[in-house]
Amino acid sequence: MQSNTQILVRHGREMNHWFDAVAHLRMKVFRQYPYLYAGSLEYERGYLASYARSHESVLILVVDGKSVVGASTGIPLAQADKAFQLPLAGRGVDIDSVFYCGESVLLPEYRGQGIGHQFFDRREAHAHKLENFQWTAFASVDRSHEDPNRPAQYRSNEAFWLKRGYAPSDMKAQLHWRQIGDDTETTHAMTMWMRALERKDEDCSRQIPDSPAGKLREFCAASARPAA
Ligand SMILES: CC(C)(COP(=O)(O)OP(=O)(O)OC[C@H]1O[C@@H](n2cnc3c(N)ncnc32)[C@H](O)[C@@H]1OP(=O)(O)O)[C@@H](O)C(=O)NCCC(=O)NCCS
Repeated sequence: MQSNTQILVRHGREMNHWFDAVAHLRMKVFRQYPYLYAGSLEYERGYLASYARSHESVLILVVDGKSVVGASTGIPLAQADKAFQLPLAGRGVDIDSVFYCGESVLLPEYRGQGIGHQFFDRREAHAHKLENFQWTAFASVDRSHEDPNRPAQYRSNEAFWLKRGYAPSDMKAQLHWRQIGDDTETTHAMTMWMRALERKDEDCSRQIPDSPAGKLREFCAASARPAA
């Protein structure tokens, strides 16, 4: 990490101060493939306010001088958007046992220096500290390899996530956003990825049936790898 860059961790209402910087950063990074998200500041502020209202949320900031160049969020799944709760609830997962990792966004010039790992390390440590969670989970947008918007040099995060011990499940969230170039919102399928909290390096194919990790095996077994 560059020497003038620092990582800050904020919780609940401490996040208020950072809303606009994080909103602009999210909109800038998520304009790119695979998200192609034509966001609005109004939506962004409402989204971040839902994290600031929670007593158990976390915001990790990467600050270079006075600029926010990276951000990552986490919140109990029960307090996250219902769209992320529904696919898990539908499969009998106890929503209260899942800590949801929201986005990780980092400006391109700061990538490849281990900050992405820091985002996971710190959110997982936070979830551990809260004590009542058995799982961490996040959602990734599904895109086909043939997607005409896919840049030739696009690098998927999939290998990174697998290495972190996450497994893509066969559970899908449906999110709505306006894609760049469109006039109206469309529905986007997102794959839910999960990891049993107690062991991050466990191979999904070798787990104990009755443990959270064993349950994970059930979800990943039928899973088709997302194409993005
Ligand atoms: C996802 C993201 C936050 C990762 O940040 P990062 O700081 O680059 O990640 P790290 O440097 O910790 O690297 C993570 C892994 O990816 C690999 N990686 C990073 N940049 C790479 C590159 N350009 N080419 C190949 N591998 C790369 C790293 O080697 C590392 O793997 P390793 O542990 O085997 O070494 C960043 O790429 C990003 O903001 N992407 C756009 C938004 C996004 O897709 N967010 C995730 C979903 S919300």
